[in-house]
Amino acid sequence: MTEAPAAPDVAAVILAAGQGTRFRSDTAKVLHRAAGRTLLRHVLEAVRPLGVGQVVVVVGHQAEQVTAEVDAAGLDATTVVQHDQRGTGHAVQQAMPALTDGIRRVLVLPGDTPLLTPEVLAGLFAATETDPAAMLTMQLTDPTGYGRVIRGDDGGVDRVVEHGDATPEERAVSEANAGMYLASRALLTAALGRLDDDNAQGELYLTDVVAILRGDGHRVVPVDAPERAVAGVNDRAQLADAAAELRRRHLDHLMREVGVTVVDPATTYLDVDVEVARDATLLPGTILEQGTRIGEGAVVGPNTHLTACTVGVGATVHSTRGTEAAIGDAATVGPFAHLRAGTRLGHASKVGAYVETKNVTVGERSKLPHLAYVGDATVGREVNLACGVITVNYDGRDKHHTTIEDGAFVGCDTMLVAPVTIGEHAYTAAGSTITEDVPPDALAIARARQTVKEGWARRRREGG
Ligand code: UD1
Ligand code: CA
Repeated sequence: MTEAPAAPDVAAVILAAGQGTRFRSDTAKVLHRAAGRTLLRHVLEAVRPLGVGQVVVVVGHQAEQVTAEVDAAGLDATTVVQHDQRGTGHAVQQAMPALTDGIRRVLVLPGDTPLLTPEVLAGLFAATETDPAAMLTMQLTDPTGYGRVIRGDDGGVDRVVEHGDATPEERAVSEANAGMYLASRALLTAALGRLDDDNAQGELYLTDVVAILRGDGHRVVPVDAPERAVAGVNDRAQLADAAAELRRRHLDHLMREVGVTVVDPATTYLDVDVEVARDATLLPGTILEQGTRIGEGAVVGPNTHLTACTVGVGATVHSTRGTEAAIGDAATVGPFAHLRAGTRLGHASKVGAYVETKNVTVGERSKLPHLAYVGDATVGREVNLACGVITVNYDGRDKHHTTIEDGAFVGCDTMLVAPVTIGEHAYTAAGSTITEDVPPDALAIARARQTVKEGWARRRREGG
């Protein structure tokens, strides 16, 4: 990514006070997520590499939650509260007093444009080297709802007219306002003081600043931007479209720049913060979330959903659900495994079909091949947990730990009633319920001895 030069004289003002009525949601629009990040966070991440001197976010609807999201980005941003949402111009008015002394230019951005990239904003920076104000515009086949950009004879912008205030001729203009501006602080401050709400929505329109600057003889430079970088998200259908575009970009980057095989991008769902290393393969139906990291040459999928997991070099994870699990190099998992929080699988270990793990460390080359529940346990190296092993870790009140030492062999259908330890190289017989520690190298048998009643079935059949 090419970073624009650092811009210490610029303040980024992000407008995030609106409710987003068309989302029909109890959650503020900017807090809805696309590809793992909130809409607002996407905008903040586009601003981060610009190196601006100050970031101010205007909050209002769900101010507390939106402020927490701003803080989480760690950009050292200021928030100002706009108590009544009286329009975009009113929102920027609230931000101006928070600007610090060194700020000479103000970058205004909406909080609902998750596809924004720093490269697109660089165009605004270049334009304001010669002129006091610039704005991003886009050519749309259907500009309904957007402000229309009315240009003057010199190619500069004369004014922006909102859809609701536009004449039929103005509505026919296909150049739309993207809602992103960079302007001289002094001129913007003066123009904001002259806004009125004499318009269709009864609001203070930020867009009226353009006509005010123009009227004073300043030039406002239009900078053409691709719609797919500046499109706003106004409802949940647009949210899904934006998320798809973000995933497409991320997968493209992984395939072209990193060298990851993605068999079917259309059914591969990655959050933007997921990392996948060279020569890994993602099979169809793979969902990777919350900073999951996949190592070199690993094969993940099909039908695998990992949240905040790491997958080691050369590991295989097939048809698996994992949360906060670390899968070691060359380990194999699945099909149909459930790795819950705190699972740590060692090098070349194996977790097979219908196995659930939780808060467990499994050592190198140990195997849990089928049908087991292993929770709150430490499993050593080269341990074999045969089919049907269960750690009985919960007594209805407290959780207890199970320790299985190196080289132990836990037989089929063994209940390990915790707290309990199986010593190094020890065996448990199939079907045992182990309630006491088993010393190293021992065999524990804990089941009723079999009795055989000769002829019992025949006698029953013959009514005896
Ligand atoms: C605005 C522009 C329009 C442009 C469009 C691009 C104006 C008057 N119109 O319209 O020309 O084509 O963006 O998407 O600016 N907000 C506040 N406080 C408010 C009002 C809005 O913080 O009082 C925030 C919203 O949360 C949102 C952003 O400002 O993040 C834009 O507001 P929105 O209502 O979506 O503006 P549009 O009507 O889309
Ligand atoms: Ca909008």
